[in-house]
Amino acid sequence: MCGVKGDPWRSAVTQVGVPRESSRGERRVALVPRVVERLTDLGLDVIIERGAGTGALIPDSAFENAGAQFGDPWQADVVVKVAPPSAEEIGRLHEGAVLIGFLSPLAHPDVVASLTEAGVTGFAMEAVPRISRAQSMDALSSQANVAGYRAALLAAEELARFVPMLTTAAGTVPPAKALVLGAGVAGLQALATLRRLGAHTTGYDVRPEVAEQVRSVGARWLSLGIEAAGSGGYARELTEAERAEQQDLLSKSITGFDIVITTAQVPGRRAPTLVTADAVRGMRPGSVVVDLAGESGGNCELTVPGQTVVVDGVTIAAPLNLPADMPEHASELYARNVLSLLELLVDADGALAPDFDDQVVAGSCATGRVG
Ligand code: NAI
Repeated sequence: MCGVKGDPWRSAVTQVGVPRESSRGERRVALVPRVVERLTDLGLDVIIERGAGTGALIPDSAFENAGAQFGDPWQADVVVKVAPPSAEEIGRLHEGAVLIGFLSPLAHPDVVASLTEAGVTGFAMEAVPRISRAQSMDALSSQANVAGYRAALLAAEELARFVPMLTTAAGTVPPAKALVLGAGVAGLQALATLRRLGAHTTGYDVRPEVAEQVRSVGARWLSLGIEAAGSGGYARELTEAERAEQQDLLSKSITGFDIVITTAQVPGRRAPTLVTADAVRGMRPGSVVVDLAGESGGNCELTVPGQTVVVDGVTIAAPLNLPADMPEHASELYARNVLSLLELLVDADGALAPDFDDQVVAGSCATGRVG
C-alpha cells in the first residue's frame, strides 16, 4: 500500500541523490547532466556520488557543470537508481525516503518487503502504467528498444555468415533470413535493426494487431493462426494445447532461418517456450538464436540465462542486461523517464507532493509507509 498520512514531504527541500550503480556489469547511471540541469531548474538539489557516471563515460565534471553537488546520495529525500538496491543499500536509506528505480517487485518481493520495513516509499519504473500519458516515463520500453537493437547486432556478430546480400566477383551471397518471435517493443526494434543490416526479416506474435507494425518496419508477418490478445496491450498465456501447437508449427518455420531473436513475454509469468531443442537442431549450423527472455526462464528450451552456448553448431545467446552494454544512450533515455516521473511527484516549488489518487503515481508505487 502506498501513501503517507499527513503529507510529510510538502515542506521539505527536495534533494535527489544519484548513487554509483553497484550490481555487476551495470554501467548505466540514473541521471545524466542534461536532466540534472532540468532538475535544478525545477528547484531541486542533485547530490551525486563521485564516479556515478563512469560506466556510462560521463565524467564527474559534466555533472558538476550541470549543477550537481558531490556527496552521499543515500541521505537524499529521493534516491534514483537503475538496478534494484542491495540489502546494504536499503540499509543506507533513511526512513521516509523515496526510492525510484527498477525494483523488480514481481521477481524480487524481498526487495519490496525490505523497503517497506525500512519505511521507504519505492516507485518501480517497471510498474509505470503503459498508458499514453505515461509514455515519457516508460522505462521498460526505452530500455527494451536498446535491448532489441543490441540483440540484432549480437546476432549479426555471432552469425557465421553475412547478413546483407553481397554481390562480389567471387559470386553472390544471399541475405540472411531473420525471424523475430514476439513483436513488442524489443521485437520491433530488432526487426527494424536487422532490416537496416540487410536481412530478410519476418515477425511473429500471438497478437494479430501487431501485424501492421511488423510490416511497417519492412518485415513479413508470419501467421500461425494462434491468437492470444490479452488486456492492456499484452498477450494472454496460451493454453497447454495452444502451446504444443505453437511449438510444433514454429519448429517447422524456424528451420529455414539463419537468425532467430525471441522476445516473447506475458508479464508476471515464466517466459513461454517457443523454440524447442528439436527446432534448434533443425537449424543450419552457424545459425544464431538470441533469447532476450532469459531473465524469466527463456523462450528457447536450450537457453542458459546469461550465457552463450553452442548446440550442434547453432549458437544460443541469452544476455541478461543488454541495455548496460550501451550505457550512454540507455542512461540518457532512462534519465528522461525518471525526470518525467519526478516532475509528476513534485509541486511547482520543487517540493515532494505525490498525489496517490493519480493513476500513474499509484500504479508505479510499489512500497509505502502509512504513518
Ligand atoms: P513487450 O511486452 O512489449 O513484448 C512482448 C511480446 O511478446 C508481446 O508483443 C506479446 O504479444 C508477445 N508474446 C507473448 N506471448 C507470446 C507467445 N506465446 N508467442 C508469441 N509472442 C508472444 O515486451 P518488451 O518490452 O519488448 O520485452 C520483451 C522481452 O525482452 C521481455 O522478456 C523483457 O524482459 C526482455 N528484455 C530483456 C532484456 C535483456 O537485456 N535481456 C532487456 C530488456 C527487455
